[in-house]
Amino acid sequence: MTQKKRYALVGTGSRAGMFVEAITKTYPEFAELVAFCDLSQTRMDFYNEQLVEQAGVGPLPTYLAADFDKMIEETKPDTVIVTTMDATHHQYIVRAMELGCDAISEKPMTTDIDRMKAIYDAIDRTGKSLRVTFNYRYAPAYTRFRELVMEGKVGRPLAVDFSWLLDTSHGADYFRRWHREKKNSGGLLVHKATHHFDLVNWWIDSYPKQVMAMGDLLFYGKENAEARGEHYSYNRYTGVPEAKDDPFALFLDDKQVYKRLYLDAEPETGYLRDRNVFGEPVTAEDTMNVSVRYENGVLLSYNLIAYSPWEGLRVAITGTKGRIELDVSENINHLQGDGAAKESKGAFKSARMRVYPMFGESYPVEIPVGEGGHGGADPVMLRQIFSPDPPYDKFHRAASHIDGAASILVGISANRSMETNCMVNVPDLFVLPKKTTEPAK
Ligand SMILES: NC(=O)c1ccc[n+]([C@@H]2O[C@H](COP(=O)([O-])OP(=O)(O)OC[C@H]3O[C@@H](n4cnc5c(N)ncnc54)[C@H](O)[C@@H]3O)[C@@H](O)[C@H]2O)c1
Repeated sequence: MTQKKRYALVGTGSRAGMFVEAITKTYPEFAELVAFCDLSQTRMDFYNEQLVEQAGVGPLPTYLAADFDKMIEETKPDTVIVTTMDATHHQYIVRAMELGCDAISEKPMTTDIDRMKAIYDAIDRTGKSLRVTFNYRYAPAYTRFRELVMEGKVGRPLAVDFSWLLDTSHGADYFRRWHREKKNSGGLLVHKATHHFDLVNWWIDSYPKQVMAMGDLLFYGKENAEARGEHYSYNRYTGVPEAKDDPFALFLDDKQVYKRLYLDAEPETGYLRDRNVFGEPVTAEDTMNVSVRYENGVLLSYNLIAYSPWEGLRVAITGTKGRIELDVSENINHLQGDGAAKESKGAFKSARMRVYPMFGESYPVEIPVGEGGHGGADPVMLRQIFSPDPPYDKFHRAASHIDGAASILVGISANRSMETNCMVNVPDLFVLPKKTTEPAK
């Protein structure tokens, strides 16, 4: 019998639920969760209660963040899963490796160049591995898009147009909590767009070379609201009667999972999950345009808006032999889940994919449908991570620290470009290895 791999998890917020459920319910034959670590004892206790009630596992040993080393020493995990706030990922990735563990990190790998260098340095010193969980690659529709490029439907890719719209539920959620301060998340061009830049890097099989960006905070934040004549007397929503009819409100006492994970934990860490999106401070942009030139010559034009009436994306790749287009409208249903592991964000409401040969009739492409979170992506990725014999993946979807870096380098360079009003040469910030695979024909 294969020996079970031992996992410890640091960062017991909402995203942790997907990993906890995968290890304890879907892959318990092959994987074992051995400990939790977080700033909040309340959040760790909540996960332990769920484990005992729903999976008959645990309670697991819990360790406050200051006792991370003690956790590794006492519970001896093979791999540490990092699902903390973005700007803290590097601390745990680096320390886990120094203490002899591999690491799996949620996206974004980290938020700036110094943190990225610290991760690379730890990998060099320890020889340990890092996997970045870019689940979007595994969504059947995005995998099919990659397959069309691999099949040569566009010939050699030359241009990518990509617009991503976050709606007033999901997009707003980044402005209710820690993401809205760039020091925590790198802003949405790092925190959110890391998914999108990773998809482009992977679809066209290249790395970014030059980046120019513009971005502003045009909708959220106190100043924008007041300029529109909207005034708010409250800094958060929960427990505020005047917020009752506010369409942006999130009430943490409405849903058990929010109450237990966030409201009950406030006295410990002061983390407010329901801040008024029209309050202060907000340092992240909500409207962004980015132009990228890739090493293989492809030009990308990318837009991100965080206050759209509908959620989804429009992407097209045009090349020497044709064009493929994909339009997706997502059924975000963002605030409906009750139960830490039950969110099914990003399920597709409708989707359209079409190939336009350079000369010839265009035709539709069937979009494979997947069950589960993020358009069916999460279960496929979890199988690749936790099953001992994952099927061979011709799409090479498992993302390394190099992929993690290649995607955040676009966002970090875009942030630099916005600060300086100049184009950024990516290798001036960080040199990525040369691509070893041939570009798609
Ligand atoms: N791949 C995806 O689709 C996806 C979806 C959601 C979130 N995420 C990622 O998962 C991570 C967590 O996001 P979330 O939505 O669960 O956030 P969250 O705020 O619900 O949870 C974050 C947790 O990290 C803990 N934490 C913060 N600083 C810490 C520190 N210094 N040491 C230890 N613990 C610390 C907090 O106490 C909290 O429990 C983020 O990196 C986010 O980008 C990825």
